[in-house]
Amino acid sequence: MNKITTTKLKEMKKSGRKITALTCYNFSIARIMKTADIDVVLVGDSLGMVELGYENTIPVTIDEMVHHTRAVKRARPEGLLVTDMPFLSYNVTKQKTLQAAGRLIKEAGAEAVKLEGGKPVADTIKLLVENNIPVMGHLGLTPQAVHKMGGYKVQGKEKSVAAKIVTDAKILEGAGVFAIVLEGIPSVLAREITKKVEVPTIGIGAGPDCDGQILVVNDMLGMNMGFQPKFVKRYAGLEEVILKAFKDYSKDIREGDFPSKIESY
Ligand code: KIV
Repeated sequence: MNKITTTKLKEMKKSGRKITALTCYNFSIARIMKTADIDVVLVGDSLGMVELGYENTIPVTIDEMVHHTRAVKRARPEGLLVTDMPFLSYNVTKQKTLQAAGRLIKEAGAEAVKLEGGKPVADTIKLLVENNIPVMGHLGLTPQAVHKMGGYKVQGKEKSVAAKIVTDAKILEGAGVFAIVLEGIPSVLAREITKKVEVPTIGIGAGPDCDGQILVVNDMLGMNMGFQPKFVKRYAGLEEVILKAFKDYSKDIREGDFPSKIESY
């Protein structure tokens, strides 16, 4: 596989080749993703929930994003390495926004950042792009706005909200994003946006017609059994596999079957 860049993702949209994306938070999984030719490796702030045990993504800090991005980077991913800017690390002052994004790029090795929102973050996107930091947008169900949305609810079912999301997608494109994540919106709306913007759309819970798809890696591996929304396809059942391994290990120790008596070191 060749190194994936923001330019290549745009070419993939033009040629109709679907983009594969997954979240990733650590070295060992990043190594496997590299072998599997995943196009976009996102250190999502979902790490706060699936790896750090927070209730939502709000408490995630830049230090945590730097720490996990550095671990993923050590696997030298060939997929584009994108890192989420956590809640209120952007769209504050210009200086603070640039410092936060700069840490993700300079210190952690991310190749692009992702941030949530439409029109209100357009100037922030322009600022970052002008400073040579590629930006991925994120519209629809934006988890950092969980309190404002009143929960993790599908967005854009009403005509007026759907129209606003379409407008926001055009605004983000105009501000210079290289791709847009569309999360938790009706598939007809995702299809319309995908047709209307030239940059690739990457869907999660947004139907089949986006230019690519992303899932939270723990969800698709069956490592997050308390959370199983309809749109997640489970490609493995790691929680059961790991649980069995832990139980077998304890049993072996308790029954004297591990370590083996004949082995000596
Ligand atoms: O943080 C995350 O995992 C994300 C994806 C769901 C797109 O933003």
